[in-house]
Amino acid sequence: MILVTGAGGNVGSELTGILARGGHPVRALVRTPRPLPDGVEGVPGDLNEPASLKTALDGVRAVFLLGGYDDMPGALAVMRDAGVEQVTLLSSRSVAGGHADNAVAGMHMAAEASVRASELAWTFLRASGFMSNTLQWIPQLKEGDVVREPFANVPVATIDPYDIAAVAAESLTTPGHEGRAYAITGPEALRPAERLRILGELLGRELRLAPLSDEEARVKMSAEMPEKYVDAFFRFFAEGEFDDSEVTSAVRDLTGREPRPFADWARAHLAAFR
Ligand SMILES: NC(=O)c1ccc[n+]([C@@H]2O[C@H](COP(=O)([O-])OP(=O)(O)OC[C@H]3O[C@@H](n4cnc5c(N)ncnc54)[C@H](OP(=O)(O)O)[C@@H]3O)[C@@H](O)[C@H]2O)c1
Repeated sequence: MILVTGAGGNVGSELTGILARGGHPVRALVRTPRPLPDGVEGVPGDLNEPASLKTALDGVRAVFLLGGYDDMPGALAVMRDAGVEQVTLLSSRSVAGGHADNAVAGMHMAAEASVRASELAWTFLRASGFMSNTLQWIPQLKEGDVVREPFANVPVATIDPYDIAAVAAESLTTPGHEGRAYAITGPEALRPAERLRILGELLGRELRLAPLSDEEARVKMSAEMPEKYVDAFFRFFAEGEFDDSEVTSAVRDLTGREPRPFADWARAHLAAFR
């Protein structure tokens, strides 16, 4: 049995589908009841409360895990005690050469350290920025054809969560991935205006990107997230602490096919933008 945490999220929802279609026994950890793919059972649990995971872990061999919960060592100890052998952790490329005092990189570095210390076999998926971050534009696109965006000059080798899930499925169902940290990216580095142009073509709308100044960006982001994360993203993308533009071959190496381009992700999620 494989337990998928974050099963309602961008990556977890793709992963439960891939595993179920592949005939693997799969269980989803859910906080709130939700529709799941055929063949996937949902079991309640909260990763911030390790003791609540026990039922979901019954008979589980491997876990797909996200980082950043209140007590990662505690949650991992409950997994180990329940007989779990292997964890695949969704991490970030920002950990490579990252700064522990950056709130985003530091969170992922701490999660990786907890997993390494857990005595479970591990695989880290150090992902680039997700294509699904584009969903954040929906409120602006409901209002008009202009998207106001911070860090407009920054290219990101943005990855489809489906490809992260495909690599995760590979790591959870085939041998040889223990102790490996994979830097996984999409097929090309795109600036926000390039993603918007592709989206606009598919929607049949003339969309325009309006870059935000650093001052405007700080105001907008501070309304959406805690200040420590605003600072972390400014350090990444305004001060150049993190270059997320390099394309790697990891998705191809691990799945035997090219990573999906942004147009494919946008086409698959077009209804959300309409
Ligand atoms: N976005 C990026 O560009 C990027 C890049 C690299 C790494 N990452 C990392 O990727 C992860 C996010 O992945 P995602 O986009 O697939 O997730 P997501 O869409 O944000 O969904 C998060 C999922 O986790 C569940 N969850 C949240 N808190 C929980 C808890 N205490 N106990 C159990 N389940 C909980 C949520 O369940 P509910 O539905 O019940 O709330 C939801 O299903 C984060 O760790 C992020 O740092 C993101």
